[in-house]
Amino acid sequence: MKVGIIGSGTMGSGIAQVAATAGCMVKLYDTKQVALDKSKAALEKILNRLIQKGRIDDAEKNRIQSNISYVNTLKDLGDSDLTIEAIVENLDIKQKVFSELETYVSDTAIIASNTSSLSIASIASSLKKPERCIGIHFFNPAPLMKLVEVIPAIQTSKEVLDKATQTIADWKKVVAVAKDTPGFIVNRVARPFYGESLRIYEEGLADFATIDNALKTLGKFRMGPFELMDFIGNDVNYTVTETVFTAFYFDSRYKPSFTQKRLSEAGYLGRKTGKGYYDYDENGKRVTSSADTERSRNADSHNSELSQQIFNRVLVMLINEAADALFLNIASAEDIDNAMTKGVNYPKGLLAWADEKGIDWCVKTLDDLYDEYHEDRYRCSPLLRKLNREGKTFF
Ligand code: NAI
Repeated sequence: MKVGIIGSGTMGSGIAQVAATAGCMVKLYDTKQVALDKSKAALEKILNRLIQKGRIDDAEKNRIQSNISYVNTLKDLGDSDLTIEAIVENLDIKQKVFSELETYVSDTAIIASNTSSLSIASIASSLKKPERCIGIHFFNPAPLMKLVEVIPAIQTSKEVLDKATQTIADWKKVVAVAKDTPGFIVNRVARPFYGESLRIYEEGLADFATIDNALKTLGKFRMGPFELMDFIGNDVNYTVTETVFTAFYFDSRYKPSFTQKRLSEAGYLGRKTGKGYYDYDENGKRVTSSADTERSRNADSHNSELSQQIFNRVLVMLINEAADALFLNIASAEDIDNAMTKGVNYPKGLLAWADEKGIDWCVKTLDDLYDEYHEDRYRCSPLLRKLNREGKTFF
């Protein structure tokens, strides 16, 4: 299969590696020669590291590299069966690139976008044949993260959806098919991990380290929400939250937090600036104060009532979000659970977690929160209520 990739930044380079490893002939295009050079050099480094680790040999490295060519014009992608775009997150620019590309490719070529936040319908509308357009959303780093969300727009043909899904599965990725709605699956369902944790902090119930430790020790999440926000970048994470909030017509469940906004405004972006919720040294390593250590020790206790309360509250909000995504047919139960375990490394699928905790526990915990706050953000998904009434589970 001939694959074109537009944009040789973080995502485009990673996707090119995935496709080339799977045996596709890849052409990687960028407007900037320096971006292409950087991408080529980065791949050389990655493959050398894989050789050192004994994962691949020299022949495999050569095979992958010779499957990728670096090109300087969009026209060079004319013979691609599938093109995946990974350029700046700007609708106008994406639409222009898409309509130009369509003049070069064959009638049957698929044109896909790796967008995280734009609707696929709006991108597809720039094409003469919008039915050939689809969302193919990788996670960073693309070669390591197993999940790919495939998002058909309302214009997308069934044939294109089937072909795209099959191709991504052939690339040894786990496909989750999602409706063309804000945040697709992962960026929607994950919002409470950050939002509810920030809310708990803002209420003064606990500090960052205590909340992080509660989720790591009791929930077995690899990183706590504040560590993760610092890792992603508070500017990037805040923008995703604000975009999802706006796209959902200001549903209070997705309301961004002033705490994060102020950090972002102050330039406390996290690891990349040396300061966020925590402090970092020049190598991006966390600088831990003695107060932090003391707090962690307190929070580490599995019996701590506060830690349990924090964990329960964040978990039940995540479960509620996953249940509501299923209720609104955003994706299947299997795909929602796969998305969170394979896209963001959650220790368990949220719907399976709901079954394990008990649907009655989920409903009661959410109703208790609603009773306490009388805020719409704590409304229990009708699907959880229905399952509880009927004594059923998700799986
Ligand atoms: P990036 O900034 O690392 O790379 C973008 C590249 O596109 C740059 O090399 C730039 O020179 C090139 N470019 C810009 N305009 C172009 C044009 N008109 N034609 C050809 N090349 C052009 O960006 P990144 O992070 O790789 O993101 C790309 C896309 O992937 C965005 O839509 C983003 O929302 C999406 N995405 C990003 C993720 C991430 O974690 N960074 C995760 C999933 C999706």
